[in-house]
Amino acid sequence: MKLSIDLLNNLIDITSNSAIACFPYIGKNEKILADKSATDVMRDMLNKLNINGEVVIGEGELDEAPMLYIGEKLGKGKGPNIDIAVDPVEGTNFVAKNLPGAMSVLAVSEKGNLFNAPETYMEKIAVGNHVPKDTIDLDFSVEKNIKNYSNATSKNPNEITVCILDRPRHKKIISELIRLNVNIKYISDGDISGALLVSDKKFGVDLFMGTGGGPEGVIAAAALDNLNCKFQGRFIFNSNKDKIRANKMGIIDLNKKYEINEIVKGESIFCATGITSGELMNGIIKKDDIFITETIVGYNRSSLKLVKKEISIT
Ligand code: FBP
Repeated sequence: MKLSIDLLNNLIDITSNSAIACFPYIGKNEKILADKSATDVMRDMLNKLNINGEVVIGEGELDEAPMLYIGEKLGKGKGPNIDIAVDPVEGTNFVAKNLPGAMSVLAVSEKGNLFNAPETYMEKIAVGNHVPKDTIDLDFSVEKNIKNYSNATSKNPNEITVCILDRPRHKKIISELIRLNVNIKYISDGDISGALLVSDKKFGVDLFMGTGGGPEGVIAAAALDNLNCKFQGRFIFNSNKDKIRANKMGIIDLNKKYEINEIVKGESIFCATGITSGELMNGIIKKDDIFITETIVGYNRSSLKLVKKEISIT
């Protein structure tokens, strides 16, 4: 089965509308309300599609409803069997504080092709498609990854930029990067975007490293897979509860390093609509009764496409 262009267009509509649903909350310090409002729109619109969908990456489980939860069935039940990864608001702090980079995100694949990930952290590494796949590896030291990348690209370390979430847990990685004289692009949130910055030289990011949300890792992998970029992820299960939950989800080897094609198999669609403007796309613009949206789309293994829409809200 091929994921159809109609499905793609529907998904662009959905992330556009869920992003618009956040518009009233930009800068209002109401991240829960913003998330709920985007989630409600995303759920309503997904339920109107002729698909037999199931959320495999969502926010919590049934007891944490009204968020779109893992295992939730979506669609009219007729049509293709689809796995769905949702992140109605990626960067809730960005919306709350009116900061750049918030977006509304969906990724889908055929049933069974998107990793069913628990809500834990994931160690991640990503690089663009301009270097051989074995250049970087989660099992290499920071120094080895930088050396390999430097050899593959003939860039000196001081010409290499690594994007990483600005978190105390990254102290070791960051001090290694500083020692190696590598440039660091710190992000305060939003590591789906952070990982996607490796996909095009225009963003000036060579590598993405560090630990962030597991669900965000799976969604980033879906986008990067369409672009033939490299991504590896390893879940971090700290508590017993997390370990038991992972086993229940079928994860036996808790230390396994996942290659991109183990996280997303076959075709996938990735759509992300800007809520506030960021490096990847502009945020929502309101002109009278029209909202203008920008969505980046990964489909059919081609480069990320930017789709602009005008949506009138009556
Ligand atoms: P939310 O939009 O759910 O707030 O997530 C933002 C985010 O920055 C993700 O992009 C990232 O994966 C995760 O939070 C990092 O988590 P933490 O803030 O706990 O380091």
